[in-house]
Amino acid sequence: MDPAHVDPATGLAAAMAGAEESAPGRVAPATLSLARPDDWHLHLRDGEALRAVAAASAAQFARAIVMPNLKPPVTTVAQARDYRERILAALPPGSDFEPLMTLYLTDLTSADEIRRAVDSGFVKAVKLYPAGATTNSDAGVTDIAKPRAAIEEMQRLGLPLLVHGEVTDPDVDVFDREAAFIDRVLEPLRRHFPALRVVLEHITTREAAQYVAAAAENLGATITAHHLLYNRNAIFSGGLRPHWYCLPVLKRETHRRALVQAATGGDPRFFLGTDSAPHPARLKAHAAACAGCYTAPHALELYATAFERAGALDRLEAFASFHGADFYRLPRNTARVELRRERWTIPESLPFGEDEIVPLAGGEGLDWRLVA
Ligand code: NCD
Ligand code: ZN
Repeated sequence: MDPAHVDPATGLAAAMAGAEESAPGRVAPATLSLARPDDWHLHLRDGEALRAVAAASAAQFARAIVMPNLKPPVTTVAQARDYRERILAALPPGSDFEPLMTLYLTDLTSADEIRRAVDSGFVKAVKLYPAGATTNSDAGVTDIAKPRAAIEEMQRLGLPLLVHGEVTDPDVDVFDREAAFIDRVLEPLRRHFPALRVVLEHITTREAAQYVAAAAENLGATITAHHLLYNRNAIFSGGLRPHWYCLPVLKRETHRRALVQAATGGDPRFFLGTDSAPHPARLKAHAAACAGCYTAPHALELYATAFERAGALDRLEAFASFHGADFYRLPRNTARVELRRERWTIPESLPFGEDEIVPLAGGEGLDWRLVA
């Protein structure tokens, strides 16, 4: 079977879970209006790939927190300034999309660099990748004690630390790495730096959702659309499906349900972060498939689908458009966007520089569409 091919009749519906949550007896709205949303966790890449994907995010979101895991990583304010310029140059003419930049934390990040980041005005956070945890994380932190002067300064200045929350210990099962990270790294870190503002990125487990819900207001979490829509069965249904492979990997159904509850429950510490992570199709359909789901072109539609299945469409605006801005202490967007109930088919493939890219659930149908 062609791994990119999914039967439209059975694909999305079969791999998605959650229809059980939809509220019976409610009249389905034909349109949905919300304040323009932001994406609080996005991979835009660089070069030809950046040019291929920037417009997709700009069409969906006003702003995005841009991940720094380039090759080489964005470790300094000077590099972030240059990357920001390249992003702005790659946007369609007239776009007002605002990239919010991040620095990649290393063992050597200094307190001075943190001060420069805050002074820059365009660096909004610092990203912690445990070394070896995910794509382009080799230069990440080998021991959280090493960059402690930088973290101390972040705490003092209120600059958020964004966390890829997985341990890299090969003895820990891949599906348990997030829960182990909370116990071994995150909880001790937060005890050591109680005023540090932290976002646990792309949470995938009940443990993470509960940990954030029980924590103080200086801990938030982003949730992806794919972790709201799919459980790990999606990776294995009808063959091995690399387009559903991301890190942290999809988990079992109980975890997906806990994430849906967190996202739709109204707690302002949970907010939208797509973790849209484009890789060329040839590196997804590969013996060592890259981790990452490309959701940028239909992100809001995927979230709307998840919220509607949970009977919580009325909660989408706060999750997508308010909670993240409030956490980052940025103004909420005042412009509005509209989604229309309309059946359409996600493209099976899109141009990606010299390559092609397969968006998540390409070839399958969706019932919501963002009005251009
Ligand atoms: C991301 C990527 O490709 O950069 N991949 C992913 O599966 N999410 C890295 C990351 O966020 O872990
Ligand atoms: Zn990511």
